[in-house]
Amino acid sequence: MHPLRSRIIGDFERQAGRHDDPAVYGGPPGDPGLIGPGSVSWEVHADLAAVSQAGLAAIVLEVLHPSVVAGVEDLSDFRSDPFRRARATLGYVLATTFGNTSAATALIEHVRHVHSFVNGTRPDGIAYRALDPELIAWVHTCIPWMIMRTFERTNRVLSPEERDRYLREQATIGRMGGGAAVPASVAELEEFVAQVRPKLAVTAQTRAFLDFLVASPFLSDLPGSVQRPAGRFAVHAGMIRAPRWARELIGYDRPAALTRSLYEPVLQLDARLHRWAFGTPRYVSLARARVAGASALEVLAR
Ligand code: HEM
Repeated sequence: MHPLRSRIIGDFERQAGRHDDPAVYGGPPGDPGLIGPGSVSWEVHADLAAVSQAGLAAIVLEVLHPSVVAGVEDLSDFRSDPFRRARATLGYVLATTFGNTSAATALIEHVRHVHSFVNGTRPDGIAYRALDPELIAWVHTCIPWMIMRTFERTNRVLSPEERDRYLREQATIGRMGGGAAVPASVAELEEFVAQVRPKLAVTAQTRAFLDFLVASPFLSDLPGSVQRPAGRFAVHAGMIRAPRWARELIGYDRPAALTRSLYEPVLQLDARLHRWAFGTPRYVSLARARVAGASALEVLAR
């Protein structure tokens, strides 16, 4: 394998995981999983570069909801093990799309169970619970929304029908996770975002979360002196996939010329390199083989 290729794959997998468990992506021959081949989700989520690049903007949008950031700050172990958290979230997105029906359903049930313990009170006195159907719908929506935007910027533009189909497919997962009124089309997404936007804010907890991202836990291999500037760069770059109002809300907006000349080319290169390095990711080969009736062992041996 080309040394650069193996370096890119090694770095990625060390942080974000391998996502090739045959028990999840292999399985009963012919089983399409919850979404299935021929779907827009299978095309879009096969692009690991787009899915992973969307992660930063999605998580920042999620935590702009003061109830979400309260739950995460109070009860998540992301500070002690950010890689575990990143792996779990990416794994959820991939397994619910490509995993066999029983593994995907069991994962959704497991995460619902974890969420049933995520309850508390925000610093402003308002009670929150992760299984509040609107909160689940918000966190869910940020993920396909940002993946779709990233895919379209770095891979190919979807037709309006494909965008609606993708959101409809993903809405099934959002509802299974406990969401209500999960947007299932672009029009519904716009309506939902407009409805949630007045509730979004930057609280002291949001600031603490953003500071943690800038302190760049994911760049810990770099020398200490460049870690923070590199972290700031990565957060600003990742946020160009979010809508402008979100960047303005957190005070991370950058002039359009800088986005065009610096952040966008860096993200395009990053996506191209990851796409080249991964080719067809193993979770995709495994899922395709499962549907076609081949054994997972045959795929892993290739
Ligand atoms: C559909 C929406 C959501 C998805 C897909 C999602 C995904 C996940 C995943 C994959 C885990 C890891 C479970 C494990 O440890 O194995 C998790 C845990 C957790 N989630 Fe969510 N989540 C969602 C909504 C929310 C909301 C609305 C909140 C807060 C109000 C929240 C807060 C947490 C916390 C505190 C944990 C446990 C600690 C941790 O692992 O960081 N989640 N979630």
